[in-house]
Amino acid sequence: MFLFNLLLVFSFIGLLLLLTCIGWWVYVRISPFHIAVNRIPGPKSLPFIGNTLDIAGGLQDILYILQEKWPQQFGGIYRFFVGTHCYVTVSSPEMMEIILSSQKTIDKGSSYDQLVPWLGQGLLINSGDLWRSRRKMLTPAFHFSILNSFIEVFNEQSRILCGILDDVCASFAEGKAEIDVYPFLTKCSLDIICETTMGTRINAQTEDSDYVNAVYRIGRLLVERFQNPFMRNPTIFSFTALGKEHERLLKTLHGFTESVIHNRREVLSQKINDEIDHTETGIKNRLPLLDLLLKASNNGEVLSSQDIRNEIDTFMVEGHDTTASLLGWFLYSMAANPDCQKKVWNELQSTFGDSERYFKQQDISNLKYLECCIKETLRIYPSVPGVERTVVEDIQLGEYLVPAGCTLGLLVYAAHRNPKFFPDPLVFNPERFFPDEAIGRHPYAYVPFSAGPRNCIGQRFALLESKTVLSTLLRRFKFEIAPNAKQPILSDNLILKSMNGINLLVSRR
Ligand code: HEM
Repeated sequence: MFLFNLLLVFSFIGLLLLLTCIGWWVYVRISPFHIAVNRIPGPKSLPFIGNTLDIAGGLQDILYILQEKWPQQFGGIYRFFVGTHCYVTVSSPEMMEIILSSQKTIDKGSSYDQLVPWLGQGLLINSGDLWRSRRKMLTPAFHFSILNSFIEVFNEQSRILCGILDDVCASFAEGKAEIDVYPFLTKCSLDIICETTMGTRINAQTEDSDYVNAVYRIGRLLVERFQNPFMRNPTIFSFTALGKEHERLLKTLHGFTESVIHNRREVLSQKINDEIDHTETGIKNRLPLLDLLLKASNNGEVLSSQDIRNEIDTFMVEGHDTTASLLGWFLYSMAANPDCQKKVWNELQSTFGDSERYFKQQDISNLKYLECCIKETLRIYPSVPGVERTVVEDIQLGEYLVPAGCTLGLLVYAAHRNPKFFPDPLVFNPERFFPDEAIGRHPYAYVPFSAGPRNCIGQRFALLESKTVLSTLLRRFKFEIAPNAKQPILSDNLILKSMNGINLLVSRR
């Protein structure tokens, strides 16, 4: 009797499963949504779980499958499913242009959701009219004259980095240090972004601080969370040890930003005059982003304290990891291509000679080769390897209709390695960006800072910062690949990083 009942239960479950599968099979054949997305090429998918198993590996596998294997197999547009959710990914410049230049596809995709507890509705994440008004409000913070006033900070922090590397080199035999340069670069860019956005020095390069440790740790924690599909569920996550640590880190991060905002508000409220004297922080003639936000807040009527905190936290995140990634991959590219490093060095010699003077805005026009090397670094190693958009209204991409409800993935990394636009794509060749070479190239074939209305607001800031830091470093140090060094393992954790660090030989020139 028991066996009979068991058999009955199993038969019932089996029948239910069979009916659900048949139902699903019929549904995907008659629903206009599935008819549209199934016209787009892509890998075979299973009912309910889609292609989840194909991309269940580590972050380096995700980068390889999404940005190398499938684009090579299916071309400039393909679709896949995570569970039942459809992703349409694009690397063709023509389609990138349609998406990035449109005002209708400005809403972000779900990959950013896990940043919401930290960044709230800051500029990176928010959408619609809120995004439009914030973008308008924040754009003046990146005015040419304000950026130029930050060059002093870039120079000061680059000098500190040089001093630290000098000490490290001196502690190795023959003054040649074999080190992972990435943590040094991250701390330098953290110091820079903190001073320029909040008007506060955190001395990440020279001192230990809870805030800096929390910024560091939360980045890694979010990667650990991203790798575990169960942890993506906020309720499950909140009960885990990782979730609890996340809570504690958020307290430290938000607490720090709130206290800086509070102090700065006090300073500003003591000023009757509109002209602010920036000597309270020891920083003259600079307008940190925070001042702009406090002025625009109109005593909380336009922006609440939390809105201000969200924007500041957003700039902290977007402004340091992206730049550190560029600096790291640049030094790696220089070490791996000594001929290019030599050319940059010659250019620096003819601009600065043996002088140890600060980098100036006027030097930029003399450093054209350095600029091409930065561009080529961002081509092979784009700091942001992919960008997401949610499709809120059907959109036509060439012969394919992408229906509302899909997520669009723009594959910057794959686009930059397309041999049609960049022959021998893995060869580091800065000359691709010489003016004559770039003529006729599709403008959306190269989009390291994205493009269109939702492009990177900090693009000019990032380029000015990297030119200052990199020219200062290369004037003083030589970078080489250690004879037995392992190749970096590239991975996509929203930012393009090396899983095993960027290990180089560093020595004084
Ligand atoms: C090498 C350095 C950098 C690269 C490659 C880079 C790249 C990008 C990309 C591709 C986007 C678009 C993301 C998307 O659409 O999902 C973006 C957005 C953004 N970036 Fe950057 N970024 C860099 C540095 C910076 C810096 C230094 C700042 C701030 C000082 C910054 C602030 C932002 C902000 C706030 C957004 C959101 C803009 C919006 O949605 O309106 N970025 N960045």
